[in-house]
Amino acid sequence: MHTKLLTTSEQDLREAGAILRGGGLVAIPTETVYGLAANALDERAVRSIFEAKGRPQDNPLIVHVCDTAMIPALAAGVPDAVRSLAERFWPGPLTVIMPKSDKVPSATSGGLDTVAIRFPSDETARKIIAYAGVPLAAPSANLSGSPSPTTAQHCIDDMTGRIDAIVCGEDCKVGVESTVITLAENPPRLLRPGAVTLEMLREVLPDIVLDAAVKHRLKPGAVAASPGMKYKHYAPKAKVVILDGSFEQFAAYVGEHRQTDAYGLVFRGEEQCLDLPCVSYGSETDSLSQAKGLFGALRRLDELGAKQVFARMPSKTGVGLAVYNRLIRAAGFDVIKL
Ligand code: TXA
Ligand code: MG
Repeated sequence: MHTKLLTTSEQDLREAGAILRGGGLVAIPTETVYGLAANALDERAVRSIFEAKGRPQDNPLIVHVCDTAMIPALAAGVPDAVRSLAERFWPGPLTVIMPKSDKVPSATSGGLDTVAIRFPSDETARKIIAYAGVPLAAPSANLSGSPSPTTAQHCIDDMTGRIDAIVCGEDCKVGVESTVITLAENPPRLLRPGAVTLEMLREVLPDIVLDAAVKHRLKPGAVAASPGMKYKHYAPKAKVVILDGSFEQFAAYVGEHRQTDAYGLVFRGEEQCLDLPCVSYGSETDSLSQAKGLFGALRRLDELGAKQVFARMPSKTGVGLAVYNRLIRAAGFDVIKL
């Protein structure tokens, strides 16, 4: 299949919308990560997303809208809390799970009776949804198991020959996927942390709880509330280990344990202070910069042929929780306390 590269010109966005309305697949920029979009209400189109990504069929997709007026048709009764969440966080990097209507095919919801809805803030994404004229199902536009794409080039690397088109927009501003919460149970639960933080959500949903799978490996046989949590995610080819300690402890540990093709995944400015090739993923005191840089840094380590990666430990508060959640998955939950 020839994959057409589109710009963000009005004419090209209109073309992307037409491809999507016709049942095609288009990678699109959003403020979080690039998404691999299809008409969420077209079962055949949605099935082709899973094929292009090599994604397990039981992993449900997020449905993207460009207006809250699109939601009542997708949900079987919109929970009351949606209004206050929308006022505060939409458009933006928050996904809300609610009971689904019959209009949403079970291919989209991964066989669940709920639907995940997101109203992105990215201007290009919103225009494409509007031109398509239908809600768009869109997982991250990476091959299943590799880090989510945060630049058009990442999509070109992963999806060329597999989808109809790629809209080549700007680099993603947030860099990690949206926060996912469910309102389909009581109390509401945070399933995946993102740029809309637990602390921010508590101001609107004081009783929201954090799903155990956010910080910990699922116990064998446990059922994942968010099926995406059970898969090994965001994994580079190298063996990644996170070292929890000061920079001095990190440097000492690495000096003793490094093997061939070992790299550091460190904070900005630390590269020069280590006797080890390094890739940085953001500044130590700025979780937003870490979120923005993490997936690109993991891809870069693969390009460099890293076999062993020692990563610096991010903070676990605010947006740091999202960074930590992605990094421990890349590390297969391998954290060493120094
Ligand atoms: O930022 C994002 O959310 C990006 C961009 C493209 O919008 N999309 C994204 O989609 O990250 P994806 O498919 O890579 O991640 C969706 C996550 C998965 O962990 C999935 O299991 C969960 O949301 N999810 C979706 N629908 C769900 C549902 N009905 N119940 C529970 N979890 C659900
Ligand atoms: Mg994904």
